[in-house]
Formats: sequence, C-alpha cells, structure tokens
Amino acid sequence: MTKQEIIEYLSGGDDTQLFRRSSQIRQSVHGSTTFLRGLIEFSNRCVCDCLYCGIRASNSKVERYDLTLEEVLCATQKAYQKGYRSVVLQAGEKRNSLNTHRVTEMVTKIKERYGKEFSITLSCGVQSHAVLKEWKEAGADRYLLRIESSSKELFKRIHPPEIDYTERCNAISTLKELGYITGSGMMIGLPWQTIENLADDLLWLQQREIDMCGMGPYVEHSDAPLSLHTSEYSNPERVALTLRCIALLRIMMPHINIASSTALGTLDAEARKRAIIIGANVMMPCMTPQRARGSYNLYEGKIFQNI
Ligand code: 5AD
Repeated sequence: MTKQEIIEYLSGGDDTQLFRRSSQIRQSVHGSTTFLRGLIEFSNRCVCDCLYCGIRASNSKVERYDLTLEEVLCATQKAYQKGYRSVVLQAGEKRNSLNTHRVTEMVTKIKERYGKEFSITLSCGVQSHAVLKEWKEAGADRYLLRIESSSKELFKRIHPPEIDYTERCNAISTLKELGYITGSGMMIGLPWQTIENLADDLLWLQQREIDMCGMGPYVEHSDAPLSLHTSEYSNPERVALTLRCIALLRIMMPHINIASSTALGTLDAEARKRAIIIGANVMMPCMTPQRARGSYNLYEGKIFQNI
C-alpha cells in the first residue's frame, strides 16, 4: 500500500472494496478464530501526566488502587476457569523497584500455576532494559506499548515534556530485542490529528514490524486537559476511521494480531464486532475485579465488556 492509497481509503474513498479485501485476508490467514485475552488492570497509579488520560498522575479525583498479588491470581484463576489461556496485566506507569518486583512476582506465580502455555502480556509503560529483561526472564511473553501517535509533533502536543518520543521508540525496539512479542498502536481522532498522520502511523507500524496492534478511537475524559481541545472528528467519524485503520493494517500486515479495542466498543458496540469481521482477531475482555473497575477510567464511559 502506498501512502497515497492509504490516505484515499482513510478518507472513505471505497469502504466496500477496502472491507471486502481486508475480510478476505482476515478469513484466509486467521480463519474465524478470535483470541481472547483477559485484561487485568492491576493498578491505576501512574507517574505520567498524559494530557488525554483519565488516570493521569495529577487527576486527584481518581481513587487510586493496587490489586494485591492474591487478587491478581484470583482474577487469573477466574479467567482460566472460563477457558482463557492468556491474560494481559496492565497498569499505570511506575518506575521503582517495588513495582518491578511486584510484576516479577505476578508473572512468576502465574507461570508456576498455569505453565508455559498460559501466555502473559504486560502493559506497564516505558521501562528500562534491565526491568524489561527481568520480566521477560520471569516468563512474560508479550508486551504492549502504544506509540499513541508516530508524529513527533503530535506526540509532543498530547504528552507532558518529560515524556520523550525517542525514549518510547527505543523501548519498543528493546522489547523486540529481548524477544517479546511486541505490540503497539495509536489513538484515532485526536485533536490536531490529520488523515496523513494516521497513514504515517500505519506505515510506522509496518516499518517497525510490530507483532500486535491495538488501535482505538480517542475518547475525551473531562478531567484530562486534552478534552479542552475539540477534535475535528465526531464520535461516528472516529469509529469509521478506526475500522478503516484496522482493515488497512490487516491488508498491510496479514499475520499480526490486531485487537478490537474497548474504546471502540465504548463508542459503538456493533463496531467492535464489525472490527472482528474486517480484520481484528483479538479481544481483551475485562477481568479486573469488581472493586477496582470503576477506578480505571482512561476515558469517559469505558465499558467493562465481559465474556
Ligand atoms: N481515549 C482513548 N484511549 C485512551 N488511552 C488512554 N487514554 C485514552 C483516551 N482518552 C489508551 C492509550 C493507552 C491505552 C492503555 O489506553 O492508547 O496506551
């Protein structure tokens, strides 16, 4: 796909043809299989102050929590009993030895109980080589670290100055070097984001040879300062763009895992199913224990899709 072709499809040039092509590839490469990964949001404490995010460090309205090791194991057990063979351990970003140790312990215990075949994905933000290595050696299989936007300029506008674009790119390279199955992705429909930015994001994912991708619409959170800037895309437009991005990426990278995101389901439940038909092959239903669910609001109206 050339950038020009991508831009044409993203602009709604020919949805019928785009989705026909992407569904065919989805079906021929992945059949009708969809992988389920149980999402366990084990802590909403975060050192970052991302301008779009509801659990940003400076949002004092959030009731902060850390699940205990027992709670994480219990959520994993529930997932296992329901037939899941894969969990995603996600949390706000923290860089201290206590956090490193807690994650190592979770990974070690889960692997001890359920064996090598049970896969663990981590989503714990940017971390040093040493920390990522420790978690890999403990048994983590996969890591999700979205670039959010591959445009340096847009990345800067949606993050505080201390969050560095190059550092995030380097962390994604480190994940690959360490042997993680590496996921990335972006938010779609951000203020100032252009169709060209999105085309560049898709090409960036392809050039980086990422193994997995989670892309979802940007959804405002009223306690996050980015909500003061109006996106030029309505919610239905963000949904349409997300579907087109998923379809395009499926055509560009037939073999990778693509998640149908919770944010997409939040804006439009039907679109999440549609995403599965036109290209996505992963769903991450929420397995976070009830007591914590209401406190992991990255954006407004976040659903707790459960299976
Ligand atoms: N809207 C949509 N997605 C969001 N995320 C964080 N805040 C928002 C928001 N306001 C996404 C980011 C992050 C992932 C865990 O959640 O892409 O990487």
